Amino acid sequence: MKHNTFVNHPPPADLAPDNRALVAPIYQSVKFSFDDTDETLRYLKGERAGFYYSRNSNPTLRQLELTLAGLQGREDCLLVGSGVATIASAALALCKQGDHILAFIESYGPTRWLVQHLLSRYGVTHELLSIEDRTGIERALNETKTRLVLFESPTNPVTKIADIEHLTLHARRTGCLTVMDNTFAGFHNHGRFDVDIFLHSLTKYASGHGDVMGGAIIANRELINGMRKDIVTLGPTLDPHAAFLIQRGMRTYFLRYERQCANALAVSHFLADHPRVKRVFHPGLESHPQHALAKRQMTDFGTVVSFELDGGIQEGNRFAEALEFFSIAASLGSTESLVVPPALLGGQEYTAEQRAVSLIGRGTVRLSIGIEEADDLIADLSQALDRAFAAV
Ligand SMILES: Cc1ncc(COP(=O)(O)O)c(C=O)c1O
Repeated sequence: MKHNTFVNHPPPADLAPDNRALVAPIYQSVKFSFDDTDETLRYLKGERAGFYYSRNSNPTLRQLELTLAGLQGREDCLLVGSGVATIASAALALCKQGDHILAFIESYGPTRWLVQHLLSRYGVTHELLSIEDRTGIERALNETKTRLVLFESPTNPVTKIADIEHLTLHARRTGCLTVMDNTFAGFHNHGRFDVDIFLHSLTKYASGHGDVMGGAIIANRELINGMRKDIVTLGPTLDPHAAFLIQRGMRTYFLRYERQCANALAVSHFLADHPRVKRVFHPGLESHPQHALAKRQMTDFGTVVSFELDGGIQEGNRFAEALEFFSIAASLGSTESLVVPPALLGGQEYTAEQRAVSLIGRGTVRLSIGIEEADDLIADLSQALDRAFAAV
């Protein structure tokens, strides 16, 4: 064998069956082979388990899929390359021309874009309501045969809480599937509700360190198998190295989430008492209009805290720029704290009526709370609020 041949057929370094790695290795391989054509064919016909091509499946992804499905309390999971890929690929796999989607004004911007601008090009119609509009939801589902209800809870950025029992009851009654983007609440929340499909951005709490992107679609086996062929064909596959990092992140998911939630609550109480803060949005605060609903539905209240500064864009910019421990950045759910000032908060595409429903005001700031010491975060917020309103 010449050296050029040798490096393309490297010697195996297999482990004996009684000698195991504590951390599953990354299967950074696109291809998997069987011993012969017959076994390959048996796999391709679904007659035996195995792996063949990583766009379809890969052992590193499979371990993470089983972990996340188990946590969310469903049978199966499909991993894709980002959170938005879960929304787009699930919607495309579940809808056909002429179908109708019920979505919400308070939903994540790209979700609204998908429904309003992309799916509409393929003949899928929609209605956008407020997530708080219980009567409207019942009316919409009664009046229009609806394929999907696509919702979130808590919503971004003002943490409104969806009444999941109400939504799922009326969706089930009218033969409509519920798809919940559960990114803000996490895998340990909402599994006991009659939600058909959960979506998660793994870029947030699952990875936890802001260094990798991913998404998970979690549902019963029948639904996942029904979507699999379409989604694999769309090609949003997660890379095995990303899956490995996310699996590693999951080891500390609960420790991080608990700590971030405790910090978020402490920060919320501090802000609620601050004279320069008009209103704080965090479901853990008793003053949150849906605190009781959040308490019934969730085991904790999440790690996003938004608030309305007693000021506008300029004060918001000065506040964000004065912070030491909060970086001005998008996303949430990592170990470090982040801030989104009013100028960057988005929602520019809202109509005046939708903006009023969104509760995003001229001084709305979103914080994503990390695992730092709560005292340090509060001291930092305090000095930044002082500087935001100091005479210039
Ligand atoms: C609720 C929600 N869903 C989905 C996403 C998209 O996730 P990704 O950035 O991984 O595409 C985000 C990102 O901020 C989000 O907040």
